[in-house]
Amino acid sequence: MAEPMQTEPSPAAAPALALAPQKRSLSAVQQIKYLYKPALFVLCLLPLLLLAAKAFGVAGESLGANPVETVLHTLGKWGLKFLVLTLAVTPLKDIFHWPRLLAFRRMLGLFAFFYVLLHFLTWLILDQELYWPGILADIAKRPYITIGFAALLMLVPLAVTSTHKMMRRLGRRWTKLHRLIYAIALLGVWHYFWQVKKDVREPLIYFGVVAALLAWRIWKRRRGAKPQLANAQNL
Ligand code: HEM
Repeated sequence: MAEPMQTEPSPAAAPALALAPQKRSLSAVQQIKYLYKPALFVLCLLPLLLLAAKAFGVAGESLGANPVETVLHTLGKWGLKFLVLTLAVTPLKDIFHWPRLLAFRRMLGLFAFFYVLLHFLTWLILDQELYWPGILADIAKRPYITIGFAALLMLVPLAVTSTHKMMRRLGRRWTKLHRLIYAIALLGVWHYFWQVKKDVREPLIYFGVVAALLAWRIWKRRRGAKPQLANAQNL
């Protein structure tokens, strides 16, 4: 049966229509873009804001007896947490059947880079005080620094190619390049493990989580699942 044709509202009905409350709900894409993404952005900045609050003694908080160490360690830990969160997006998307979760992966990855970069800059400026002979010697001779530095260098191309434009331009090569994130996370865990003096429980937990995520990824690939790029609908 043919659908009844939609007719234009009569001129007499126009004032009534103008008075009727306009029901304008955001589409799922708009909700992600204008609500969830800004909210996540603020959430991701919170560790840094808390650190700044402590540095300025807000509400009686402080960075403790060794402020540089506190800042260095906090930023390093958040760098690692964001790396793990980035890796967890795809499995969580599959488990909860929520493909739109992919829209947040890029932001989490960029925050991982942001915190690792700040961690590195803290070491470079506050810890080493830009003393280049010492910096270069540490990078070359202290294995945990060498590994951390390698992980940071590997993060750079991922951050640079994180735009939709680069994603489209590189195509399948983009997916291959971004698999580096697993190696980076493992190097980050190794770096953490090596510099811990006594209690290695926490780095081991991180290792377990990253290894499980990697195993999941390999298992999925073996089952023939194609890696998914984030939806290019400006998400
Ligand atoms: C992906 C890259 C990196 C990650 C994920 C990472 C993560 C971490 C973590 C989790 C810690 C331990 C925090 C704690 O004990 O509470 C740490 C410590 C540290 N990291 Fe990194 N880091 C990275 C790169 C770097 C780089 C590039 C450098 C410098 C070249 C660096 C220098 C240090 C130093 C000096 C410490 C403290 C060691 C100590 O107190 O004995 N890290 N990092």
